[in-house]
Amino acid sequence: MRPEQIRGDFPFFEGADAPVYLDSAATAQKPKAVLERMTHFYAYENANIHRGGYALAEHATRSYEAARACTAEWIGARPEQTAFTLNATDALNIACAMIAKKRLARGCNVVTTALEHNSAFLPWAAACREKGAELRVLPLDAQGIPEISRLETLTDRNTVAAVITAGANSTGWNAPLDEMMRFFRGRGVPVVVDATQRVPHDRLNFNGLGCDFLCFSGHKLYGPLGVGVMAMRKEWAEEGYGRLGGGMVEEATEKGFVRAKGVQGLEAGTPPVAEAIGLQAAIEYLQSHTPEECWRNERALADALRSGLAEIPGVRVLAAGENSLPVVAFYSERIHPVDLAQMLQMRGIALRCGKHCAHVAHERMGLDATLRASIGIYNTQEDVDALLMSMREIMRRWEKRYGR
Ligand code: ALA
Repeated sequence: MRPEQIRGDFPFFEGADAPVYLDSAATAQKPKAVLERMTHFYAYENANIHRGGYALAEHATRSYEAARACTAEWIGARPEQTAFTLNATDALNIACAMIAKKRLARGCNVVTTALEHNSAFLPWAAACREKGAELRVLPLDAQGIPEISRLETLTDRNTVAAVITAGANSTGWNAPLDEMMRFFRGRGVPVVVDATQRVPHDRLNFNGLGCDFLCFSGHKLYGPLGVGVMAMRKEWAEEGYGRLGGGMVEEATEKGFVRAKGVQGLEAGTPPVAEAIGLQAAIEYLQSHTPEECWRNERALADALRSGLAEIPGVRVLAAGENSLPVVAFYSERIHPVDLAQMLQMRGIALRCGKHCAHVAHERMGLDATLRASIGIYNTQEDVDALLMSMREIMRRWEKRYGR
């Protein structure tokens, strides 16, 4: 479906003063279908789940479990492999804690890439430090693309896990997931996939990939804030590890407790019920709007943006490799990205600047900060033109005043 048609479903774009929103990689706007579903739940269906002995509570439980089934189906997992968390960071931390507790020891190593988000990188960096293990980082080539061929030299028989992004939030690099998974699977290395940036632009198949964990957040997939997803191999779901509290025990006495079976045993406390149901509404919205066509549009817009920016004197675009995500990172050596973002926001353009919680990536690329324009299913050619026009004008003025 064309973005012009899609926009009408998003209240955010109503009215003349809506910004040119190019920050969907930070959080996507929400379609009416999601807002209405959540409002209806809170207004008429609200009850806690897996606890109450009355019809409304049973109805809420069924709705939450239906949201789990829908989300699992969307990523090629089974419901009994799919836990809801608070966000992707929560999911990535829990996945790291589960594997580290079982497998990480002095002398072991974990392999990752230099393009990880802090939420994937830092838990492993801390766990390795604590256990006396080594975190091995796949380097970037001169263009800023991870050197997949070097996986061979980084991985050995002491490699106990790998954590890899399916798509980098900092540059839009789209990981060759199948190839990377074949590599690690062939060596029996458990893999955590951070799919946060990939899931809004692609269909993934958790069980087809054969990773141990696949994590993402709902709010970048046009769903609400406050819900994340952690799909895991059944063994991890049964292994049972995670926060302790209400709702996750079969039995508890002063002497100990028996964890509830399956993913429920990992969801301590009242889970994000309305948010999970809102996420289901987002997935159903996408499913009914020919997502493949939307994703082709997004990528075409990102390609146009990339080449348009690259033609502007004084602007550099970060390489993202083939088939990249609709995320375009750029900078100018003449104007600091933070100042540029301010100038763009005065022209009604909203985008992110800084390190994008990808500090290692920026350090390795020798960059203090970048700007990032990220595209969603509602962005149009006019949005891309607005950014290009503004950047041309800003850079022209700068050159006129200060020279090259
Ligand atoms: N991780 C989010 C981003 O990339 C917030 O902007």
